[in-house]
Amino acid sequence: MSEEPAPTALLPPEHVAIIMDGNGRWAAARKKPRKFGHHQGVEAVRRCVNAAGALGIRYLTLYSFSTENWRRPKDEVKALFDLMRGFVEKDLEQLRAEGVRVRILGSRDNLSADIITLIDRVEGQTRHNDKLFLNIAFNYGGRNEIARACSALMEKVRTGAFSADTITEADITDHLDTASIPDPDMIVRTSGEQRLSNFLLWQSAYAEFVVLDVMWPDFVQKHFEDALDIYHCRERRKGQVGI
Ligand code: IPE
Ligand code: IPE
Ligand code: MG
Repeated sequence: MSEEPAPTALLPPEHVAIIMDGNGRWAAARKKPRKFGHHQGVEAVRRCVNAAGALGIRYLTLYSFSTENWRRPKDEVKALFDLMRGFVEKDLEQLRAEGVRVRILGSRDNLSADIITLIDRVEGQTRHNDKLFLNIAFNYGGRNEIARACSALMEKVRTGAFSADTITEADITDHLDTASIPDPDMIVRTSGEQRLSNFLLWQSAYAEFVVLDVMWPDFVQKHFEDALDIYHCRERRKGQVGI
């Protein structure tokens, strides 16, 4: 007897994007420096990537450093950069072996040469993988990304490589850092805050927004499952009338 196909509504979302928030408050509640929260946050990243694989998610995008996070104290910014370096150095081999393709979204401006080399290395060494697409938004801002896409289009028009009189939505989509990545079906934010903070502004047009009441360092697979349960209860109308 053939198995009944799962109803579409219960298939996992193809793309989940997460605003990993609450590291500082988690640390403060333990009378520890904010850096300690970020450090523990990396463990939550590892749990989250494993959970995404186990739950059948194909694209996972994690917001790890925003263009606005440069406004934080210098030593905190340095700690966040060191953690990014450490994560890539420690986890690259395992990610590569497990079939994860890593892409770093965001501007390369203001990044030191060693970070750019690291980004090229992790993207290059995982580029043939296709089991899980892990995108890390680092030095990322949605407005900055749209402005860079417009500049790239203008440059193509100037050199004659692009001759359209009108710029279409698809043209902009194709020049974003997320070109070829489907829009997120769901954006999750931890720590209870209810805002996008400049994350995936263009791509989030029809994403379901789910806020979880957990600080990022405490995030485990159960929270991912809770978010999926909430997602499955939503009716995605996309401008049409309800069912
Ligand atoms: C998220 O935690 C990590 C980054 C934004 C880099 P926060 O550092 O924003 O933690 P809270 O929001 O201050 O608790
Ligand atoms: C958003 O969190 C950025 C990341 C999670 C990397 P923030 O903590 O920086 O956002 P705001 O400042 O509370 O809006
Ligand atoms: Mg925060």
